[in-house]
Amino acid sequence: MLHLDLQDRLQEAVKAILPEADLSTVQVRSCPDPKFGDYQTSALMALAKERKMNPRQLATDVLGKLRADDLCEKIDIAGAGFLNFRLKPEVVAEALAGAFRGEHLFFRTSSQPRSIVIDFSSPNVAKPMHVGHIRSTILGESLSRIFRFLGHRVVTDNHIGDWGTAFGKLLVGWKESLDRDALQRDPIGEMERLYKKINAECDAEETRLELARSELVKLQQGDAENLAIWQEMIRLSQVQFDEVYGRLKVSFDHTLGESFYNPQLQATVDELMATGIARESQGAKAIFSDGSMPQKDDPFVVQRDGEWLDNPALIQKNDGGFNYATTDLATLAYRHATWRPDEIVYVTDGRQQLHFRQIFAAFRRWRPDLEKSVKLAHVWFGSILGEDGKPFKTRSGDTVRLTELLDEAEERAFAVVSEKNPSLDEAQRNEIARIVGLGSVKYSDLCQNRQSDYVFSWDKMLALNGNSAPYLLFSYTRAASILRKAEQSDAVTNATTLTAIRLSSPEEQAVAKHLLKFGQVLELVTEEYRPNFLGAYLYELAGLLSRFYESCPVLQSSGNERLTRLAICFVGARVLKQGLNLLGIETTETM
Ligand code: ARG
Repeated sequence: MLHLDLQDRLQEAVKAILPEADLSTVQVRSCPDPKFGDYQTSALMALAKERKMNPRQLATDVLGKLRADDLCEKIDIAGAGFLNFRLKPEVVAEALAGAFRGEHLFFRTSSQPRSIVIDFSSPNVAKPMHVGHIRSTILGESLSRIFRFLGHRVVTDNHIGDWGTAFGKLLVGWKESLDRDALQRDPIGEMERLYKKINAECDAEETRLELARSELVKLQQGDAENLAIWQEMIRLSQVQFDEVYGRLKVSFDHTLGESFYNPQLQATVDELMATGIARESQGAKAIFSDGSMPQKDDPFVVQRDGEWLDNPALIQKNDGGFNYATTDLATLAYRHATWRPDEIVYVTDGRQQLHFRQIFAAFRRWRPDLEKSVKLAHVWFGSILGEDGKPFKTRSGDTVRLTELLDEAEERAFAVVSEKNPSLDEAQRNEIARIVGLGSVKYSDLCQNRQSDYVFSWDKMLALNGNSAPYLLFSYTRAASILRKAEQSDAVTNATTLTAIRLSSPEEQAVAKHLLKFGQVLELVTEEYRPNFLGAYLYELAGLLSRFYESCPVLQSSGNERLTRLAICFVGARVLKQGLNLLGIETTETM
């Protein structure tokens, strides 16, 4: 917040000197090295460069107009024209006091709220949700929460895979070899078995493949029996998805699966053909390069052996069937027409990068008028690996089911909690284990740079030390416990009368200054769709709090010192709790 106040004033000053400048580029950021200050701006150098001005001269002129002595110590011009700002200690103390009184939490909601569609999770019907879907679900949920928290209008849409060639095979399996008892016990397992069986037969025998195709065509033509079976498969799958979402506390505004767009697919293809964006190729229809992009950026060509070859996006097969790309183009058109979003975000694994580059490029050619008005973003992530560095599998080599993974997380957390705190009764330990277990799975994912692969390690994610959910949750409970003890002896709640916060030790100041940066970190998360920035911020906060507890006893202190320290515990706990909540992680008061 203070950085935004400072930024507003800086923009005023720049406007006075360069009335025509684009003020949105004039930003105040954290100073990477506290030796030089708390915040800095490099914007003046860029402005000077564009105008061929001397950057230090521009910095001097802007400084002459900048009124910020109430917020900052003397402002320095550094290097080639940076401005470094150092907050006055009383300003930091007052910001902390304001948060203690419940007036703010160091963030501002956006003055230009955007509407954002987020497509995430999107598992496939008749298949178990696996660990690959966990990253999309956890990342997507956290991004939705953070965008909403900052005041943006968010529409979440679960684009489930409920249509396509797999259903031909599933229908054959369902009609010929369904085991009703198995379906009762484990619907997903049974549907998976049917799919695998028929899929193998289709690979071996052309006649089986033809049968599957004809069942699919019947489904597409609205055959009553096939429709009913297909709907039952969706229903059974949705039960499983909802169980996982319920446990993870994830929710969606809409679940419009791929099948929802089926009625629009032919029209989409016709339009793309009529406008010349797609053309016929070997009986199929596909989108080719229009040569408008440099080849290295063009998703419709690939380089092989030094030669550029066509890399078209198929939109209709020669048997008339449609492709994944067709559905995504129809989906984009629908989302645009329905929600008029400023931004559409897709959260999927990195293997779909080419697909989305093609979709985005094709959409721009299809709807050139939207070029500027809608931002399309593919927020992709890497793989989860086993400790052997290969894709994460069970001991028997199967993909790990999400429900089983969550069960194991809770069981392991129960063991950790019971060891640490054996005196708690079992129900309490169960509840704490649920929070710690699920929090650990979420945090170990969210604290990573999403684009790197990471090794799934139970020991690391459940460790009480290091960058883990248990460490952050423990930091929260420590503050909560101090506050509980203090409340028994004095009236912290009477914080409205509080005027006397004074940050006298470096440890107190370090926590308070870090707290001030909460909102700024959230903005960075939304700029780059990277919740790991928030993870790193909270981890640093927990570290600063622990240094603070070591050198600044809270309960043994008195007077203003005690009040200041309680305020740090109180506000620190609130930011930890809010930050964890934005990562989708619940907190517990004891651990
Ligand atoms: N169902 C797909 C999968 O499991 C993900 C869909 C992502 N969203 C989209 N609009 N294509 O890989």
